[in-house]
Amino acid sequence: MSPTMLQHRPRKIDFVEKVRLRACDLRPGMYICELDRPWLETPFLLQGFEVKNDTDIEAVMQHCEHVYIDLMRTKTVKPAAPEPHKAFLAHKKTTASREKDMEAARATHKQTSDLIKTFIDEIRFGQSPDIQLARGAVSECVSSIVRNPETMIFMTRLSSKDALTSQHAFNVCIYSIVIGRLLGLDNQKLENLGTCAMLHDMGKVVIPDHILNKPGPLNAEETVIVRSHALEGRNILMSGRSIFSGTVDVAYGHHENIDGTGYPRGLEGFQLNPNCKVVAIVDKYDAITSVRPYRPEGDHLRAVAILNKLVRENKIDGELTSSFVAYLGIYPPGCIVELSSGEVGIVLQSNVKQRLRPQLLVVLDPHKEPVQRFVDLSEKTSDGQGRPYRIVNVRRASDFGIDLGQHYDLIVQAFN
Ligand SMILES: [Fe+2]
Repeated sequence: MSPTMLQHRPRKIDFVEKVRLRACDLRPGMYICELDRPWLETPFLLQGFEVKNDTDIEAVMQHCEHVYIDLMRTKTVKPAAPEPHKAFLAHKKTTASREKDMEAARATHKQTSDLIKTFIDEIRFGQSPDIQLARGAVSECVSSIVRNPETMIFMTRLSSKDALTSQHAFNVCIYSIVIGRLLGLDNQKLENLGTCAMLHDMGKVVIPDHILNKPGPLNAEETVIVRSHALEGRNILMSGRSIFSGTVDVAYGHHENIDGTGYPRGLEGFQLNPNCKVVAIVDKYDAITSVRPYRPEGDHLRAVAILNKLVRENKIDGELTSSFVAYLGIYPPGCIVELSSGEVGIVLQSNVKQRLRPQLLVVLDPHKEPVQRFVDLSEKTSDGQGRPYRIVNVRRASDFGIDLGQHYDLIVQAFN
């Protein structure tokens, strides 16, 4: 096992315990641990309490502009948010050439997806992918993520029902590079990681579609067949042109669990290629948040909850998962959200200082009728009647039949 990524772990991850928040951004489940004034100057009896409902929020708003929430005691916000790699955060602030970045990201997305489709066709005809071609495409992905990670994360939400396999490969590649950036990996290591991620599931190409897409639970025989994709992937990549051993390791090991309960070999965490640990996390995240022929996609917060559960069960790496989840935040780009007004919007860009108040393209009005309207929640904090205007729910695109691709041109214009 190469200790490549272990050598590049962040020096130290500082855990944020409390965050400052506008009172109007409070939501039920958040635990207020500090106010912007002494507790004794307010009517609150307890010096710290959990927000139960909108009445609590309105009470706080009457006395405070800002409060501090304790992330460890709050039920709504992910606890233990590590500080992302500083260089990566710096890139989140880049907005000047956003339109150009969006076009470049779209071109990279298409180029990479086309290449993956070619690989799939080649494997079906008994050939194996040319790893050098894969590296070239991944190199473009790395460059796009370095320029503007949020645009590439947005691309992962452009689901295509007729290209699920290639979209999954692309998404896992992008999310893996995101984690690699958070770890501070250099470009060469990012390309290695991204190439491993892109090719991790190539073994599935030889698994019959009627088993892969079966709507109900798999029987014992079908389970064995589906699980064989790890070995099949290893064999395909080992027989390939310009072999890169990392891709073989990840194809073979991305379903192993840290506690040794995974497959096909039941390896434990210390035995795994570090790239396997990254791909295992983002593979699960994308599987949950992507549509499947037999079910709609899960929303972002549901995926986060499942990842956290897997961390608690010692199935996936906790530190890597925390970094990934903390970077995506509560409302990542492309996420569908419902507002207190009843409107529904697509998250375009997060606001680093106010992560609960991103920029949105509102696509459904309060009556769920189509509309297209840009809103920056960091600027608009109340509705026409003075009531708090905020996100109240994370939803799925399929809940409302929203296709992000249909709004793409307008979204690009938003960054003119
Ligand atoms: Fe897999």
